[in-house]
Amino acid sequence: MPVALSASLLQTAQEDVAAGIDRLFDRLLAVPADPRARLYEAMRHAAIAGGKRLRPLLVRAAGDLFHVDRDSSLRVGAAVEAMHVYSLIHDDLPCMDDDDMRRGKPTVHKAYDDATAVLAGDSLHALAFEWLCDPATHADPFVRAELVRELALAAGPAGMAGGQMMDLAAETSDFDLPTVTRLQQLKTGALIGFSVEAGAILARIPADGRRPLRGYARDIGLAFQIADDIMDVEGNEELAGKALHKDEEAGKATFVTLMGIERAREQARLLVEQAVAHLAGFGDEAELLRAIARYVVERDR
Ligand code: IPE
Ligand code: IPE
Ligand code: MG
Ligand code: MG
Ligand code: MG
Repeated sequence: MPVALSASLLQTAQEDVAAGIDRLFDRLLAVPADPRARLYEAMRHAAIAGGKRLRPLLVRAAGDLFHVDRDSSLRVGAAVEAMHVYSLIHDDLPCMDDDDMRRGKPTVHKAYDDATAVLAGDSLHALAFEWLCDPATHADPFVRAELVRELALAAGPAGMAGGQMMDLAAETSDFDLPTVTRLQQLKTGALIGFSVEAGAILARIPADGRRPLRGYARDIGLAFQIADDIMDVEGNEELAGKALHKDEEAGKATFVTLMGIERAREQARLLVEQAVAHLAGFGDEAELLRAIARYVVERDR
């Protein structure tokens, strides 16, 4: 497919998913008329109208390969996005990265307070599982249980939270490239991997048939994080909507500090090629996944 066509395919899908996620969050996070209102308002502040919505877009793109119902993939997308937003709220707290801006807005602890930010994160974490368990997500309880298990693995100590722990250690230890790669696979790669695999789980594709998608997800996850590290060095804060130059200030080992910016850029490009190669067995129906792979390294926010 010509590059221009595939770029417009990406833009259309991204806008559609973003609008769908906003509508769903608006409904699922309705503010109650009681003293919990502040908690819901904080969740809405963080979750609605912001971010690239990459993870829900991946669920949609992978689900579309197997003709998964779009409402199902959107609900799973909302669950993984809620998990991601929780991770960002906690990542920005003073006890972690101590950031004031996220997605072009004040962070939750700045707009509200630390305690509310902790509770808003806790709540989004729990809601992600609640939404996955709902029969509206999928009629088959085995599919729902598998989604819950895979998201738990991706978010916990063997996934995102474990990666965040390693990331803190990266400030004080001299991690080598294999260790930084593992750190990033957990910190960022695990939720991206879940998002891609969820499309296949919803379609009841057995583990064997998911192998190409796993390979694709691993490669774009790493490419995505290399791009985040490059953006930290030479990105535009206005566009990124968050403070940059944080890794350098913290003296953190990243792909850029270990490889240099030019080799990091080249590595990201190779990973995108490799990701696309994993999709060779699919036809035009995988064009959105291919476009996402290219976008992951070309993005400016
Ligand atoms: C930022 O994630 C944090 C990382 C995992 C590097 P995104 O770059 O996907 O952030 P949003 O969702 O677009 O705000
Ligand atoms: C955050 O990583 C990743 C998670 C929240 C899991 P970073 O700390 O590098 O993300 P940014 O740069 O603040 O978005
Ligand atoms: Mg961090
Ligand atoms: Mg951070
Ligand atoms: Mg970063």
